[in-house]
Amino acid sequence: MENEIPKNLQRDISLISSLPCDINFHGTKLFKYQGCWYDNKTLQGILNLQRGFEPQETDIIVASFPKSGTTWLKALTVALLERSKHSSNHPLLSDNPHGLVPVLELRLYTETSKPDLTNFSSSPRLFSTHVPFHTLQEALKNSSCKVVYLWRNVKDALVSLWYFDCANLKIEEERSMLLLESMFESFCKGVSYYGPFWEHVLSYRRGSLEDPEHVLFLRYEELKTEPFVQLKKLAEFLGCPFTVEEEERGSVEEILDLCSLRNLKNLEVNKTGKTARGVDHKNFFRKGEVGDFKNYLTPEMEKKIDMIIEEKFRGTDLKL
Ligand code: A3P
Repeated sequence: MENEIPKNLQRDISLISSLPCDINFHGTKLFKYQGCWYDNKTLQGILNLQRGFEPQETDIIVASFPKSGTTWLKALTVALLERSKHSSNHPLLSDNPHGLVPVLELRLYTETSKPDLTNFSSSPRLFSTHVPFHTLQEALKNSSCKVVYLWRNVKDALVSLWYFDCANLKIEEERSMLLLESMFESFCKGVSYYGPFWEHVLSYRRGSLEDPEHVLFLRYEELKTEPFVQLKKLAEFLGCPFTVEEEERGSVEEILDLCSLRNLKNLEVNKTGKTARGVDHKNFFRKGEVGDFKNYLTPEMEKKIDMIIEEKFRGTDLKL
């Protein structure tokens, strides 16, 4: 047993060194594993997760491509599961959604394949991930956990990521447009952190069509236009539908209000706090608008990425 960790580590190091690699717009080396790109640390977390995660049938995994509305989905899921338990001391009032629902490969499994999960003793356990579905499936080992995937228009996700990087890395305005251009090229090439974007979305779309009972496929834009319908869909999927009494009492609206961008953004914990990885909570909340990319991408950029996505989504039921 004592030798097991170094042996696994050795195996991982030799696996990682055998993978295709490339450099992203930050100059960070990325490795291609199971069709998507990761930095060394994230990849080690994924390998640990695939080896060590012991799923429980009742686990819920919230999944997304970064900057697709993960924070919102986490908040909504927590609020759904916690409803009726809290009045004034709701967990969302004192912690950021990312503190309540950690990313498996980025927080729990980065250092080890056997993290201490005793804090997650209550059922269902709620985790999140950014890995594509086929990679997650290996970690889930045929268990019947429920997976909720949220995706978003690639151009808004890209602009959101750009804003997030500029804010975290404190990049001044003059350099920020250069960064957007290089991020754009990386996105189009598919060599971006957790990308290619289309592989990610398509993996979960296939998963949801094959097993709709266990994989729910949601869209950010639909959550924005019909939040009531989508939240009820999520509640039903998770096995905790709203009762008629709850609906009459306004529980659906209450959860939507609690989890609204406006409300979460203005909570003290989200104005001043930081995540375990040192990211300011406030950076997770920006505009939350559909089509904001128009303010940043040129018409040429828009056309180029639209053509790529159209080609990748051809033959599927997915629209830009
Ligand atoms: P914008 O940068 O377009 O505003 P993620 O949570 O995956 O990191 O994605 C961040 C994006 O979701 C940001 O988009 C952010 O503003 C938006 N967002 C965060 N909380 C939200 C909420 N409660 N409702 C709607 N959008 C939200």
